[in-house]
Amino acid sequence: MSLDAAILKALRSSPSRGVSGADLSQQLGVSRAAVWARMEELRQLGYDISASPHFGYKLVSVPDVLHADDLLSRLDGKQVIGRDIHVFQSTTSTNDIVEKMARDGAREGVVVFAETQTQGRGRLGRKWVSPPKRGLWFSILLKPDLRPQSSTQITVGAAVALTRAIQARTSIVVETKWPNDLLIDGRKVAGILTELRAEPDKIKYLILGIGIDVNVRPEEFPEEIRHLATSLRAVTGHQVHRADLAEAVLRELDQVYRDICREDFTGVAQEWEQNCSTIGREVTVTFGEHTIHGIAESLDFDGALLVRSQHGHLERILGGEIHVLPKPGRSKGSPRP
Ligand code: BTN
Repeated sequence: MSLDAAILKALRSSPSRGVSGADLSQQLGVSRAAVWARMEELRQLGYDISASPHFGYKLVSVPDVLHADDLLSRLDGKQVIGRDIHVFQSTTSTNDIVEKMARDGAREGVVVFAETQTQGRGRLGRKWVSPPKRGLWFSILLKPDLRPQSSTQITVGAAVALTRAIQARTSIVVETKWPNDLLIDGRKVAGILTELRAEPDKIKYLILGIGIDVNVRPEEFPEEIRHLATSLRAVTGHQVHRADLAEAVLRELDQVYRDICREDFTGVAQEWEQNCSTIGREVTVTFGEHTIHGIAESLDFDGALLVRSQHGHLERILGGEIHVLPKPGRSKGSPRP
């Protein structure tokens, strides 16, 4: 752990009493002058750290910036997801950065955030708009011991983790739409892009790309999707602290990933079904020229969606574009594509 991360962890562990420079210097094995210099650097980044002879240093407030050391200092150091964190001010797509890290042999669990992406992408080749400092745009490298056809377990698990974290930090109950959309009142607030390299029977590595529209303002969405998209700020009416949300998201993702790796996908799938806007609803599923129309019944062990077609067949859906049809007698906007 870096010195900044260790300092922030020590300050967080003693919010009311504060920590003296002497204690910090002893705990961290550096001089008091080195501690003081790091405090000055953190203050430059916007961390409000008070200092008094009586209480020592106290963390008063943290800025709304993403700082790898800060994020690391919030986690317990035992997690897989977030064992290594990088923050870029700008990238093409965080999935591309993680792909390169994977090819260079990085360990699973590394997380790459960007304050903005110039070529953020979504499913089905769509563009993902990532305005600077308004959202959480990040990707995670995973190496689950799963067959490629079970990779949807990870997408579904990520949706469960995001749902928990958003509810814990904002009290908003989001709905999930299979496989990768999080919606509030029918408008998309977050999306998940799972990309993988695999051998016929085994995933070599998987890149879990997540975009959450945290503080995006309506006018920052492209006009053509403005009526389909929303942000946590637009719904709550106030700024949401991105680092606090990122911490909650990483913790929940780690928890769900452990469950999936322990082959406990059933519990994850049950939780997903409780929050989803897809199960029990009339849907159309389109793959290229092909369309299936039916009722979404449940998830199977791979995370595939089981749809009872109008002809009575149970179809196993692993991809494609899903449209959830409005309930009879109720009109609802469709989500961000
Ligand atoms: C979708 O809803 O279609 C998926 C959107 C995924 C967007 C995220 S933002 C971080 C990561 N980098 C990308 O280029 N895409 C994902």
